[in-house]
Amino acid sequence: MSDPLFRNLEGAGDPGGAVPVAGLLDAIVADAAPPVAGRPRTIGVMVASVDGHVAVNGRSGALGGPEDRAVFRGLRSRADALLVGTGTLNAERYSTTLDAPHRQEREAAGLPPEPLLATITRSFALDEDVPLLHEPLTHAVVYTETEPPYGVDDGHVDVVVLPSATPEAALRDLAGRGARQVNCEGGPSLLAALARDGVLDELLVTVSPLLVGGDDALTMLRGELGRDGTPLPMALRGVWRGGDVLFLHYHLKNGSPA
Ligand SMILES: NC(=O)c1ccc[n+]([C@@H]2O[C@H](COP(=O)([O-])OP(=O)(O)OC[C@H]3O[C@@H](n4cnc5c(N)ncnc54)[C@H](OP(=O)(O)O)[C@@H]3O)[C@@H](O)[C@H]2O)c1
Repeated sequence: MSDPLFRNLEGAGDPGGAVPVAGLLDAIVADAAPPVAGRPRTIGVMVASVDGHVAVNGRSGALGGPEDRAVFRGLRSRADALLVGTGTLNAERYSTTLDAPHRQEREAAGLPPEPLLATITRSFALDEDVPLLHEPLTHAVVYTETEPPYGVDDGHVDVVVLPSATPEAALRDLAGRGARQVNCEGGPSLLAALARDGVLDELLVTVSPLLVGGDDALTMLRGELGRDGTPLPMALRGVWRGGDVLFLHYHLKNGSPA
């Protein structure tokens, strides 16, 4: 299949012109939220069905197609670090995060071949057999409040035990490791924690042309946002189309009233 093309429907860029994925990625990076002192900029990157589901049978893979995968991997390849919830790492069996061509591109640009893969789990609920723990190409950082219940290869996995493993503490540590851009790839519990704590700057939502149905929908955020149920306001910055798939780029208005 030929590489997918994307059309900017609104916002920054050249409305109407179809571009390869790099055009969409360039536009998103050019319209990034302003940097914040002391921590990296964060963007949530999520895929949902039109009826709002973020998982089918417990995983997100069925929601993605070639357009979503191209954008997701392209954004990954430009990130310094990925922040992923342990529920997601366990469910999706994370290992390496990029393919060989993306790794080579990063190395040619003087970057490590893979972005850092960070997670936060206060109770160290990371399954011992998650492939990333055994994949030397992946440099992982686990922010926790609990010593690991099993041996971890400290050659490529850093365990950082903190008195309070909050998103902000993890992001500050990532900044100290040189990260300026962090992609939060979910899941809904961790993404909600970032939004609740006011450290989610942007959101890129892929709207997948599917209806999932069912009685118990897992949606993009799980858990209270902590402001008496007041929704968090966002500004729409860009709308892209690739085939039947929509890509919506938002900035969160952290600190602004809804
Ligand atoms: N469609 C998509 O784009 C997408 C993306 C990602 C995941 N998913 C789907 O989402 C599901 C997994 O999501 P999930 O919500 O169960 O798990 P999750 O958000 O990936 O991870 C949840 C874990 O994060 C830890 N955590 C750390 N700090 C937290 C905080 N302040 N608040 C809450 N949790 C915190 C908790 O472990 P501790 O209690 O040990 O701290 C918790 O168990 C899977 O089905 C996956 O396929 C979909």
